[in-house]
Amino acid sequence: MDKAKRKAIIAGNWKMNKTPSEAKALLNEIVPLVADADCEVIACVPYVDLAAAIEATAGTNVKIGAENCHWAASGAFTGEISTGMLKEIGVEYVVLGHSERRQYFGETDETVNKRTKAALAGGLKPIVCVGELLWERECNITEEVIARQIKLDLWDVTEEELKNVVIAYEPVWAIGTGKTATADQAEEVCAFIRDQLAKLYNQEAADAVTIQYGGSMNDANADELLSKTNVDGGLIGGASLVAEKFAAIVKAASK
Ligand code: PGA
Repeated sequence: MDKAKRKAIIAGNWKMNKTPSEAKALLNEIVPLVADADCEVIACVPYVDLAAAIEATAGTNVKIGAENCHWAASGAFTGEISTGMLKEIGVEYVVLGHSERRQYFGETDETVNKRTKAALAGGLKPIVCVGELLWERECNITEEVIARQIKLDLWDVTEEELKNVVIAYEPVWAIGTGKTATADQAEEVCAFIRDQLAKLYNQEAADAVTIQYGGSMNDANADELLSKTNVDGGLIGGASLVAEKFAAIVKAASK
């Protein structure tokens, strides 16, 4: 399957930015700028912004995602949010296993896997994030790290469910640092991820998975990154908070 047949997806990851009224204002700016996009456009926003974001994007081509979800349907998990809660208000996507959650909130491949399975069972599409630390890259174990994350994070995810999974390759050293992986580095690891998926499932299933690059992607470097065969989109942090920059990345993915 060639790249043109895969769904290109540009997703904003707003992280802990924007109040509900600010979210509404930003989406009101973004929506007209991306109205004729020839790719999928998503904004993943903080929990409390979700309702305002869904209202602001109703009837448009912009979809809304959350930034995490719990694996249990309900229960004694103070501070957590279930897939059913997200689904009921119209959330379609959910970012899982982001390196900031792994780094600061004790997320492990086991919990990423539990969340991924719960998201899929609950009808949400997970954007599963993987990526190596700078130290791991320097020690030449990027592939080992990525292979392990892909295997564990997708453990027990069926071939049918894989159709609803998006993978985001985010080298941790490139996130929010202004240091982008070169287009060749991004391609190398995204292609490696596809090879791993082919080993775990089969080539056809692997060829259909959208693999995003994330880490300081912006309006200036998006064209080159997205021109690579195995880079099917982007997970955008900082640049997703500026409507014109985000729209320029969407435009690059629409070519
Ligand atoms: P960045 O963040 O674009 O600000 O580097 C990307 C991400 O964390 O998803």
